[in-house]
Amino acid sequence: MKTMASPSFIISLALLILLLHLSSSFSAASHHHRQHHHRPPPPNPKLQQAYVALQAFKKVIYSDPRNFTTNWIGREVCKYNGIYCSPSPHDNKTKVVAGIDLNGVDIAGYLPDELGLLSDLALIHLNSNRFCGILPQTLSNLSLLFELDLSNNRFVGPFPTVVLSLPSLKYLDLRYNEFEGSLPPQLFAKNLDAIFINNNWFSNVVPPSFVTSTASVVVFANNKLRGCLPPSISNFANTLEELLLINTSISGCLPPEVGYLYKLKVLDVSHNNLVGPIPYSIAGLAHLEQLNLAHNMMSGVVPMGVCVLPNLVNFTFSYNFFCEEEGICGNLSSNGIAFDDRRNCLPEKPKQRSEKECEAALEHPVDCFHYHCGGVPSGGSNAIPPAMVPAAATPLLSPSMAPGNA
Ligand SMILES: *[C@@H]1O[C@H](CO)[C@@H](O)[C@H](O)[C@H]1NC(C)=O
Ligand SMILES: *[C@@H]1O[C@H](CO)[C@@H](O)[C@H](O)[C@H]1NC(C)=O
Ligand SMILES: *[C@@H]1O[C@H](CO)[C@@H](O)[C@H](O)[C@H]1NC(C)=O
Ligand SMILES: *[C@@H]1O[C@H](CO)[C@@H](O)[C@H](O)[C@H]1NC(C)=O
Ligand SMILES: *[C@@H]1O[C@H](CO)[C@@H](O)[C@H](O)[C@H]1NC(C)=O
Ligand SMILES: *[C@@H]1O[C@H](CO)[C@@H](O)[C@H](O)[C@H]1NC(C)=O
Repeated sequence: MKTMASPSFIISLALLILLLHLSSSFSAASHHHRQHHHRPPPPNPKLQQAYVALQAFKKVIYSDPRNFTTNWIGREVCKYNGIYCSPSPHDNKTKVVAGIDLNGVDIAGYLPDELGLLSDLALIHLNSNRFCGILPQTLSNLSLLFELDLSNNRFVGPFPTVVLSLPSLKYLDLRYNEFEGSLPPQLFAKNLDAIFINNNWFSNVVPPSFVTSTASVVVFANNKLRGCLPPSISNFANTLEELLLINTSISGCLPPEVGYLYKLKVLDVSHNNLVGPIPYSIAGLAHLEQLNLAHNMMSGVVPMGVCVLPNLVNFTFSYNFFCEEEGICGNLSSNGIAFDDRRNCLPEKPKQRSEKECEAALEHPVDCFHYHCGGVPSGGSNAIPPAMVPAAATPLLSPSMAPGNA
């Protein structure tokens, strides 16, 4: 999948490089200063606060097998491993702690209230450690925080609503933790660029109405969200490029409004309980590269318009009940498109479902106009028998869902 280089990834690297550059030019300056006075300048009040915060943090780190925080002693916090300083954006003569990067150092501990003292932080990267507990409410003090990556840790509890109070936040990565409960609708009202919440225990339905969102990447995969994709998904149209809803227990028909997401490059709704046809509107997604509808209960015709999308490189629709491929859809490889059409009801194709399974599906067509969300169809006569629900088999992990690429 071409999903690795999300814009935020590039932004974060650029920001780090900038921070490193600023902090090295700053320390070059202070080194020069030192030559005249033979002692380091006393830390400014900001760095004194940072010292208090980082010592409190160190105290609640219970395991640090690589001795990463061993040099977190003394008042020169800018020399600590994983701590990045830069001139304050408010006052360029004052050096402040602008970044914490503890990615992948296997630390166990929790986040103390004192982290709220690091009010100049722009970046927190704690990816792939063993941090547990909940996020302190004092994080709301971090008014400059731009990137928060807590992925692949052991954070628990309900959605950490404190992140909703961070005015500068653009990149939120909570994937691979043990958060649970419902998603606050306000999450989608924030000016975030990327939202990764996959591989948690979030449950409850997808918010029924998305307000206009600015996110370009939204990954919900491997949570038990349930519910249907609401027509208001179109409110993401101006920015959304990747929508990954793999294995989220969503049901119902794909709303035609999915076709309004004109910037979409990746749409993956595989391993759900979707029914009904492929909306024709998807044929309007000129930038679409990856389309994965596999492992649902969708039916009807695979429309030609989708198969001739100019940028499509992979169209996976195996394990559904499609019964006809229009035109070139029957020969996607001739268009250079990777595809998987196994286990459908395509009469001319190998590796399809049994006639018996297919007949049952044909006898009970889904009427999307009357389908009531929540998995209870209006009539009862148009329900697909549960016995036909395909069993999920393959492990699910796509590059943009895996932790560690921020
Ligand atoms: C960390 O420090 C302890 C105690 O000084 C030492 O025994 C251990 O080998 C160190 N571990 C690493 C990975 O350097
Ligand atoms: C620092 O800020 C002052 C006042 O805002 C400004 O004149 C100066 O150019 C800045 N210096 C740098 C290196 O940004
Ligand atoms: C918030 O930041 C300010 C300024 O750095 C600091 O004085 C204050 O103690 C912080 N509040 C909390 C709750 O950490
Ligand atoms: C689907 O998501 C659930 C969590 O909601 C998880 O337990 C399960 O392992 C996932 N299935 C696959 C095939 O990854
Ligand atoms: C196409 O996408 C599917 C689903 O993401 C993936 O399993 C498959 O490997 C991809 N095929 C190619 C050739 O990239
Ligand atoms: C698929 O397209 C190729 C190249 O255009 C052609 O040679 C082949 O006969 C087609 N196969 C079918 C089954 O139509």
